[in-house]
Amino acid sequence: MYILAIESSCDDTSAAVLRDGILLSNVTASQAVHEEYGGVVPELASRAHQQNIVPVVDAAIKRAGIVKEDLDAVAFTRGPGLMGSLLVGVSFAKGFARSLGIPMIDVNHLQGHVLAHFIRENKPTRLADSPCGELDAEDDVPTFPYLCLLVSGGNSQIVKVNSYQDMEILGQTIDDAAGEAIDKCSKVMGLGYPGGPIIDKLARQGNPEAFEFSKPDIAGYDYSFSGLKTSFLYHLRDWIKDDPDFIEHHKEDLAASLEKTIVDILMKKLRKAVKDTGIKQVAVAGGVSANSGLRNAFRDHAKRYHWKIFIPKFSYTTDNAAMIGITGYFKYLDKDFASIDLPAYARISPNMDKK
Ligand code: KG4
Repeated sequence: MYILAIESSCDDTSAAVLRDGILLSNVTASQAVHEEYGGVVPELASRAHQQNIVPVVDAAIKRAGIVKEDLDAVAFTRGPGLMGSLLVGVSFAKGFARSLGIPMIDVNHLQGHVLAHFIRENKPTRLADSPCGELDAEDDVPTFPYLCLLVSGGNSQIVKVNSYQDMEILGQTIDDAAGEAIDKCSKVMGLGYPGGPIIDKLARQGNPEAFEFSKPDIAGYDYSFSGLKTSFLYHLRDWIKDDPDFIEHHKEDLAASLEKTIVDILMKKLRKAVKDTGIKQVAVAGGVSANSGLRNAFRDHAKRYHWKIFIPKFSYTTDNAAMIGITGYFKYLDKDFASIDLPAYARISPNMDKK
């Protein structure tokens, strides 16, 4: 049984093909057009998706070694994300599925990130393309229930995953997401976009204890990152008054201290969730899960608190169609198909799979 999956929620156009839940191909076209603006420009993103979607889908089908008539279903990201970007993927998926006379499966993008831990590859490459030579979760998959820290450019959530389809958001950010905070601080420092990978690289050469930034005091499992962003900005302004080249002189220490603050905030709430629920299987997902400091914090917690951790392969941290495909596969097994009139959605309610 072959599924084609399509992801177009933000600035990556991605298509994947799975056979019986095993990934055969995963092709992603990233959009460089946003770099000069220091952030994603929605209108440019949808136009780039329109240009990319046909060649990306074509490449995914060819790399899988099949023809389009072999496909049994088309899974697509229905939301949340940028409406214009989503509409390109949703409309393409509907037209493609309809022309082939096969069912469509709508997938929640966040659910896809959380289920990325179930992606299985034709050729296992977990060690080969892992820069740290780490083992990560290898072929081990979480069992239900598990907790997932979902951290991306638009979301920071602690999710209790009861089954493939049943997910509870225990806490989430009340303002900025962790990735958004990193990107904004990186912009303030005059670094490129997206800031996450740049901050990560600089942080490896800096002292995480060099500077102290404010940490929020929010009740429960919710997060807040806007205060940190402001504190970072105000501190920098003061320091630059004394030394106009302060950023250049201290960029590694600034990056390391910022990263440590964000990782500390994320891990504190996660520890609380583990303690309160008693669930010690803990996964991390989303673009920020590529961060070395966060990955190391997970390993430390695994050792210190005996957590069983699940860290995704780098290529499945940022947006990709493979995670949409695996989620689509589980929905296919449940015969949970979408109708042609299902609209895209930019935001979602706390019920992650709400229609
Ligand atoms: O999941 P994702 O690709 O897109 C969303 O759906 O939001 O996440 C993108 C976010 C950006 O904020 C980016 O700066 C951040 O993930 N990111 C990182 C790293 N790589 C990407 N943040 C910290 N360290 C990284 N290595």
